[in-house]
Amino acid sequence: MNVLGISGSLRRDSYNRKLLVNAAELLPAGVEFELYEALKDVPPFDEDDEQPEPAAVARLRAAVAGADALLIATPEYNSSIPGQLKNAIDWASRPTTATSVLRNKPVAVVGASTGAFGAVWAQADLRKVLGAAGARVVEGEVAVGHAHERFDSEGRLEDETLRGQVDEVLEELVGAARGRAAVAA
Ligand code: FNR
Repeated sequence: MNVLGISGSLRRDSYNRKLLVNAAELLPAGVEFELYEALKDVPPFDEDDEQPEPAAVARLRAAVAGADALLIATPEYNSSIPGQLKNAIDWASRPTTATSVLRNKPVAVVGASTGAFGAVWAQADLRKVLGAAGARVVEGEVAVGHAHERFDSEGRLEDETLRGQVDEVLEELVGAARGRAAVAA
């Protein structure tokens, strides 16, 4: 089983990226983790550009299709999700909701922001968008507020309560992915 991590932030020292790296270390044995590093390459969505499929879009869709589950960490920009993340989901949701790589894909949403609330509005919007695209979003949530105070110099998430919440969300995500695999078998 493999989980693809996607950070909605493109920033090198992103707290959301750090959150994903922490999550990767908490995954159960036997579950592989890959960080999707090419969000910045995905061009702005344009229906006129759908054929032929742009190479960066083909890579995105292949990465999503090849993953048993997605873990998306989003920052909050002006109370919602960053444009580049919405853009990637729009591409991934095509050509139709019924046939896209997001269809029935188990996804967990977490988030970090430097504000007090830990990107809760962005996470709510992300869940809505993923649901509309046909993904199966698991229930658990992790909201890392004051993110600039939550990671040590090595990037480790220090708060044990938050680490426990990450653990719970991952358990749900892996459970959903295993359930899907059992149905498909
Ligand atoms: C922000 N930030 C922010 N934070 C928040 O809690 N609520 C918000 O609405 C916003 N809005 C916002 C807009 C824009 C354009 C930027 C660049 C930033 C601050 C944000 O939480 C902070 O930059 C985080 O560090 C972003 O996450 P990464 O890049 O560290 O993963």
